[in-house]
Amino acid sequence: MKEIDWANLSFGYMKTDYNVRCYYRDGAWGELELCSEETLNIHMAATCLHYGQEAFEGLKAYRGKDGKIRIFRPEANAQRLQSTCNGILMPELPTETFLAAVKKVVKANERFIPPYESGASLYIRPLLIGTGAQVGVHPANEYMFVVFVTPVGPYFKGGFSTNPYVIIREFDRAAPYGTGRYKVGGNYAASLRANKKAHDLGYSCEFYLDAKEKKYIDECGAANFFGIKNNTYITPKSSSILPSITNKSLMQLAEDMGIKVECRPVPEEELETFEEAGACGTAAVISPIQRIDDLENNKSYVISKDGKPGPICTKLYTKLRAIQYGDEPDTHNWVTIL
Ligand code: PLP
Ligand code: COI
Repeated sequence: MKEIDWANLSFGYMKTDYNVRCYYRDGAWGELELCSEETLNIHMAATCLHYGQEAFEGLKAYRGKDGKIRIFRPEANAQRLQSTCNGILMPELPTETFLAAVKKVVKANERFIPPYESGASLYIRPLLIGTGAQVGVHPANEYMFVVFVTPVGPYFKGGFSTNPYVIIREFDRAAPYGTGRYKVGGNYAASLRANKKAHDLGYSCEFYLDAKEKKYIDECGAANFFGIKNNTYITPKSSSILPSITNKSLMQLAEDMGIKVECRPVPEEELETFEEAGACGTAAVISPIQRIDDLENNKSYVISKDGKPGPICTKLYTKLRAIQYGDEPDTHNWVTIL
C-alpha cells in the first residue's frame, strides 16, 4: 500500500479494502456481506435514481492513544436513519443490523484508521437506497444498504480556526414541512448552488434562513449552528434542519460545564449579540465562525473580533475530541469500543 500522509488528509474519498452490504427483498433484510467491489450494479429504473429514495448517514471512528478504536454514537445514527426511512417510505433498518455493519466495515478496514497523533479520523458513510424498479412515483419493493469508510482530515479550511459565512437568500435548502429534518440526498442537491455561490464569493460555507419567513437562522451548509452569549449555548429550533448528533452532544457537554442551553427560534438580528458562534457536525466537528455576512441587507455580523475561536467554543471542542479519542472518560456512554 502506498504510504498515507495521515496528517494532511483532506475530506475526500479514498479507496479502502472493503465495504459492507445488506439487501432488503421479499419484505425482509438479509445477512451482511463483506465486499471489495467499489461499484454498485443496480436497475436503471431504481427509485433512488429517479425519485430520490436515498438516505445516508455520517459518523466517525477514532484511534486512541491506547490503540483502541472508538466509534462515536453509532446508535444515534441508526435512529436517525430510521427516522429518514420513515420520512421517505423506505423500510427501517434495525439498529442491531446498522451497528453490526458499522463495526464490521471498520474492523475490516482497520489499517485505514488514522493514527492518534495525526488528529485525523475514519469517516463512515452508510447509504440506504431504493433499488427496486418503478416508473410511476411509488416506493420501491427492494432496497440496498451499503457502508463504506474513508480516512479524512478537516472538512473546513484550517480545522479548528474561524471562517467567514454568508447568508444566501436566493436558494432554499428545505421547506418547513419538507425533508430538511431527514438525511436524504435531495436536500444536498438543493444546496449545491447556494454552496457554490458561497465558495465563489470567497466564503467557507452558505448560511440558510428559514424558507418561509427568511427571518430565523436554520443551519449552515452541512452543519448545525450554535451561538454563545451570557454563558448560554443557543441553537435554532426549526422543522427544516437536520437534528445533528454533534449538536446534541455539545448541548449535553455545555450543560455539564454549567452553561445554560436554549433550543429555540433564533432571529437573524440576534447574530449581532453573540460573543461566539460555530458550525457543528460530524465532518465539521466545531468550525468556529469569524463573521456572517448578509450581502442583500448590507450587513456583516462580526462574531470573532480578534479572528480567533472563543473560549467556550474551544472548551467544548477540546472536551468533545477528548471523549471521541478516549483521552477523557466517556461519562455519557457515547462511545462504542471495537
Ligand atoms: N446539518 C446537515 C445538513 C448535515 O448534513 C449534517 C451532517 O451530518 C449536520 C447538520 C450535522 O449532523 P451530525 O452532527 O449528526 O453529523
Ligand atoms: C457529516 O457531517 O457527516 C456530513 O454528512 C457532512 C457532509 C459531508 C454531507
